[in-house]
Amino acid sequence: MTGLQNLEWALAELDKERNHKGMGTQLSSMDLRQYWRERAEADTGDDLRDEINVSAQIPHRLREYTLESFPRKDSELYREVSMFLDDRRAWEGLFLAGGAGIGKTGLGTVAFREMVVQLAFRRRVTGEATGRLGLWMTEAYYLRILRRENESGPSGLRERAATVPVLFFDDLGANKRSEFVDAEIFDLLDARYRENLPIIATSNLPLHLIDDRILGRLYESCRMPDTDEMPDLRVEG
Ligand SMILES: Nc1ncnc2c1ncn2[C@@H]1O[C@H](COP(=O)(O)OP(=O)(O)O)[C@@H](O)[C@H]1O
Ligand SMILES: [Mg+2]
Repeated sequence: MTGLQNLEWALAELDKERNHKGMGTQLSSMDLRQYWRERAEADTGDDLRDEINVSAQIPHRLREYTLESFPRKDSELYREVSMFLDDRRAWEGLFLAGGAGIGKTGLGTVAFREMVVQLAFRRRVTGEATGRLGLWMTEAYYLRILRRENESGPSGLRERAATVPVLFFDDLGANKRSEFVDAEIFDLLDARYRENLPIIATSNLPLHLIDDRILGRLYESCRMPDTDEMPDLRVEG
């Protein structure tokens, strides 16, 4: 999305929120809106994207990935993720489950980065800080750090993952399940769900192998495109 589209999204979300709370729109002043529109027109968000790649710890291999660079624009996954970015609500996440190689990690990361950009545009308008709005991690990384806490003390990662404005969580269910694993992941999803904080998650697991409570939280907080019959891009090239 362009800077202007991101700004329009941000203004619409702010209006919805204020109407919902029965507050007048603080940004109703046309002059103020015009000021932000002019600024957004000159700003594609590309500098923000570079910053987010680093501050959210997006792996290098994925930093150049965009919607445009996705190899299969005729695919259902591409259509679903584009639609999601165009009309999502601020709290709404995305859960991409399905076979290996269909582009879940690649497109999920793009969606994640765009959500952080949208949020940064919105924060600018409200005058809030725009640093550290996103965190990218795999399930394996998350569990490894939490397990290490037994020896080396608190890492702060649990807290950061639960409260960061936008979270990307790759390969849910890729690690051996245990009571500890299911409880940690449920707690993370539950904490974010309660605070209306969106998550973008991916999984190679068939849904029936995912813990019921975890799946329940994903259903409640995420859009879940049907990914049956999507092609493996690594095989097709
Ligand atoms: N946004 C993108 N831009 C360019 N190539 C991509 C993008 N997303 C995915 N790909 C390509 O598709 C392949 C499979 O995507 P990936 O996201 O790793 O699949 P999955 O996570 O479903 O297993 C990648 O190795 C990469 O070559
Ligand atoms: Mg993947």
